[in-house]
Amino acid sequence: MKKTRIVIIGTGAVGSTTAYTLLLRNRVDELVLIDANHNKAVGDALDMNHGMPFLEGAKVWAGTYEDCRKADIIVITAGAAQREGESRTDLLKRNVAIFESIITEVLHHNTHGIILVASNPVDIMSYFTWKKSGWPANRIIGSGTLLDSARFRYLIGEQLKIDSRSVHAHIIGEHGDSELPVWSLANVAGTELQISGEEKEEIFVNTRDAAYQIINAKGATYYAIALALDRICTAILGDEGAVLNVSTLLNQYHGVSDVYLGVPCIVDRQGVREIMPIRLTADEQKLLAQSADKLKGLIASLR
Ligand code: LAC
Repeated sequence: MKKTRIVIIGTGAVGSTTAYTLLLRNRVDELVLIDANHNKAVGDALDMNHGMPFLEGAKVWAGTYEDCRKADIIVITAGAAQREGESRTDLLKRNVAIFESIITEVLHHNTHGIILVASNPVDIMSYFTWKKSGWPANRIIGSGTLLDSARFRYLIGEQLKIDSRSVHAHIIGEHGDSELPVWSLANVAGTELQISGEEKEEIFVNTRDAAYQIINAKGATYYAIALALDRICTAILGDEGAVLNVSTLLNQYHGVSDVYLGVPCIVDRQGVREIMPIRLTADEQKLLAQSADKLKGLIASLR
C-alpha cells in the first residue's frame, strides 16, 4: 500500500509544532522536515525519533527538496514571522522573496501533490504560490481563517459555557486585521446565540487580535495553528469532505474574484473540492469586499 508522506518546509516554531502534532496523532506514514538551516531539521528529526517507542512508528527525517517528489501534502511554514508590533502584511516582501526559491524547488520535484501554505500573510502567499506554480487552485490551499474561526468558536463557547465543538461560527476574509465575523449564521444546534451586541463586539475583537496578544505575551503563536494545519492535512489524507474555512481562490463569490480569502470550503483528497455558497448579509458582503480590496492592493504592489 502506498505510504502517505507530508513534507514540512520550515521547521521554526510553527513547522516543528505541526510536525510534532501530526506525529502525536499518527496522521502520516512519512514526515520529512526541510529547513534552510538543515541542522535544525536534523535536530528536530532526531528529537522526534527518540520518542518513537512511545508512538505509532511514522518515519521522520530531515530531508531535501528531492523528498517532495512523493509528497501527498507539502506544508510551507517557512519565512519571517510576525514580531511584536508587526502586522502579518508587514512580512509580505520578505516572504515573497523566500517563496520564490521554495516554490521553484517544490515544482522541480512534485507535480501531483497539494501545497498547504501557512506562512503569513497567508492569503497573499497562497495566491502567489498559485500564480507561480500554475497548478489548479484547488491544490494550493492556505490555512486561511480556520484558526480565526476556532478562536471565534472557543470565545463564543466560553461566553455561553458550551463546548466550542458545538458552536458553529465562521470568521471569513483575510487571515488578519480585515477579517469579519459571520454573526448572521452563528448558531448552537441551529438556535440563535443569546449574546448581546457588546459581548459580540468583544468576542470578535479578541478573535481578530488574538495573535497580537499571544505574540506580546510569548513572542510567537504555534500550538493552535499547528492543530489547524493538522486538521486540514487530516481532511485531505482522509478524503473527508470536511467543511473548513481555508484560504482559496475566489471567483465571483459574493462578487469577489481573483484573490485568495478564507471561506467555508469542502476539503477532500483533491484539496478544495468546492466553496460553500453561504448566505451573507449586505454588511457582511461589504466587509468581505473590503477585505478582498485590501489584499488585492497589496498583491498589486508586488507587481
Ligand atoms: C496566528 C498566526 C498563525 O494567527 O497568523 O496565530
